[in-house]
Amino acid sequence: MKRSLCVIATFFALCFAQAAELSMKVKCRYLNLPVSHEVERYRLTFKAKGVDDLSVVARLSANPEYWVFKDISAYEGKTLTITFDGPEDALMQVYQADTIRDVASIYRERNRPQFHFSTRRGWINDPNGCIWHNGQYHLYYQHNPFEREWGNMTWGHATSPDLLHWTEQPPVLFPDTLGTMFSGSAVFDKDNTSGFGTKKNPPLVYAYTADRSEKEVQCIAYSLDGGMTLHKYEGNPVIDSHDRWQSRDTRDPRVFWYEPGGHWVLVLNERNGHSIYTSDNLKDWTYRSHVNGFWECPDLFPLPVDGNTKDVRWVMYGASNTYMIGRFDGKVFTPESGKHRFSSGAIYAAQTFNNVPDGRRIQIGWANIDHRGMPFRGQMLLPTELTLRSTKDGVRLVSKPIAEVASLLSPLCSSKDALSSQEANVALNKALPQRGSGEGANCLHLRATLNLTYATSAGLKFDGQTLVDYDLNRNTLNGQFYSPQDPTSLSLTMDIYIDRTSIEVFIDDGLYSYSMERRRAIGAAQNTIPKGFEFWGSDINVTDIRLDAVESCW
Ligand code: FRU
Repeated sequence: MKRSLCVIATFFALCFAQAAELSMKVKCRYLNLPVSHEVERYRLTFKAKGVDDLSVVARLSANPEYWVFKDISAYEGKTLTITFDGPEDALMQVYQADTIRDVASIYRERNRPQFHFSTRRGWINDPNGCIWHNGQYHLYYQHNPFEREWGNMTWGHATSPDLLHWTEQPPVLFPDTLGTMFSGSAVFDKDNTSGFGTKKNPPLVYAYTADRSEKEVQCIAYSLDGGMTLHKYEGNPVIDSHDRWQSRDTRDPRVFWYEPGGHWVLVLNERNGHSIYTSDNLKDWTYRSHVNGFWECPDLFPLPVDGNTKDVRWVMYGASNTYMIGRFDGKVFTPESGKHRFSSGAIYAAQTFNNVPDGRRIQIGWANIDHRGMPFRGQMLLPTELTLRSTKDGVRLVSKPIAEVASLLSPLCSSKDALSSQEANVALNKALPQRGSGEGANCLHLRATLNLTYATSAGLKFDGQTLVDYDLNRNTLNGQFYSPQDPTSLSLTMDIYIDRTSIEVFIDDGLYSYSMERRRAIGAAQNTIPKGFEFWGSDINVTDIRLDAVESCW
């Protein structure tokens, strides 16, 4: 019996292996594809003359939970053949149109982040290729355009004049025979050292990892139209260090121009830490050195200490927000401090922007937030400005939301007075806009100083969720060790950004920060009355309150 079942299964598998096929002359901008997580992933391929083949996996279903889309402008006028190893009736639902299916609801969804970047459809993770160029910030990102879970790694793309108002652009890098498109970075090759452009039209050059199950290799691509379309270098890969490290984990190239040496630097995570490579032309790379102790997504950048340009240190950074401070001579990074951490919680794989015109070191991180029930997952956190500050513990990274964020705030209430927790709660909750029943939960910013009178614990909740839990007895802040600059201080300053599905907290002007999922937005009962702000703690008072509404960026 088992055997005949097996034969039947194989027969069906073979039927699917024959692959259902759909051909169309491309006349419209988009393909709309129906997706359901009730079904398995099957191979889906796109072929047309003169366009690179694309092979991905998708959960196409004739009973879709939601629809995703693919920009097919590259196939315009051509015959596109789509094959699918899964059920034919699912493939037959796929159609071309000039609009994305359900376009009217995009950016208006119940759990859509309002002032954080998220993608219209599908999954996002790491920020990639962060760069300012010709008046625009470019944010590329790890993206699965075909469903709201990780896979098919593609580089998505968005542009913004101010790092807050983003326009999603068509994806730029798609999986190919070398692998799927893992994380990487972008530089402006203004002297055309790569030869990809001309003196008049120098290229943007991108370094990324192509990932296959057997190994990861480093590749480059370039753009001659300001980052909108990318061309892969035919000499890829430019680095294949699998044999040196006997490891498949060699990824996430971070490239920048090293001015004092007049050469390019590429920092690459390899097995147990970050390696440094150098190049004159972005194509030929020489291995120089390695620092143990990091995993994934390197970053390396100089910053003046306390703004003093005569005292510049280098920060070596890894995906989990840990960093070392040290010296860098263009080839070797020499740590001068142990590992430190300035941020925790949902943040991961953050990257800083190259070429920011006013010289700020701006970082953006990914948060794996589940905007439950939505056809998209993950978001970027607020862009923050990083600085190095002398602290009681030595030089440390400080992270604060970029100044542009203030343009989204409109005051709801403020008070300088010392208010008891009760008084603060009443004042804040009176000032909250009409809250409805959880639908379209408010976006808020609260700044306040919490003053303890006992060395015990105190904090703040919002709608029942703990945002701040400060224990002066244990010196813990939400479970992590925290000791203020003045070790005898009984005060803590908090700067809190509440979006529909995420919350970010910056403590003592950015000396420490953390991020989390906003719980209320997730499956909040339609009819429960939100509790609002609740300061708590024995005999505390709250000063310097400022509550703002945060405007939507969409
Ligand atoms: C970090 C990471 C990177 C990799 C990418 C793949 O989140 O694992 O190391 O390039 O995600 O999506």
